[in-house]
Amino acid sequence: VPFPDPADALREQERARQGCQLCKLCKSRTNVAFGSGNARARLMVVGEGPGEEEDRQGLPFVGRAGQLLTKMLASVGFDRERDCYIANVVKCRPERNRNPEPDEVAACSPFLMAQIDTIGPHVILALGNFAAQTLLGTKEGITRLRGKTYQYRASVLVPTFHPAFLLRNPGPEFRRMAWDDLKLARREYDARSGDGPR
Ligand code: URA
Repeated sequence: VPFPDPADALREQERARQGCQLCKLCKSRTNVAFGSGNARARLMVVGEGPGEEEDRQGLPFVGRAGQLLTKMLASVGFDRERDCYIANVVKCRPERNRNPEPDEVAACSPFLMAQIDTIGPHVILALGNFAAQTLLGTKEGITRLRGKTYQYRASVLVPTFHPAFLLRNPGPEFRRMAWDDLKLARREYDARSGDGPR
């Protein structure tokens, strides 16, 4: 089939990861949280890795940080199910929410790349140090990276703070910067997409 349905392609990619044993995270995970949302979305959101609730449900961003993410997206008019596809750099929960290790990222990042290639998002919102540094191949911190756009393959990448960071640092200054980044993502999206998903 020359143009497979992206939803079918993602379902097949997800199916292929069930029971994955490519890295040591398989020993402690309950479920693989592969991704969720609209396969035809023009906005893709990339986080770090599943937390406890994500591990339980096998879905990304369904815990407290996920609830804040849903509100952040809605604040600039994005419906998370209709307008976005959401995934993480690693699909299995690192124990006690530690950072994923380089071998785990190396094992899992081909599946993030496949998701990005399947969806072909116009805009990628990278949440936090880990997603931004992994996708951009830099050690620069999110405070320096955010507020600007970057080319990532065929997409425009917008880095911003991770919602879990915003929950831990509830001051207005971080919220304001995140809001600026979301508006930047919205402008980039509107400039490339017209309205609505494909
Ligand atoms: N934090 C992440 O980076 N990803 C999730 O899915 C949940 C919390």
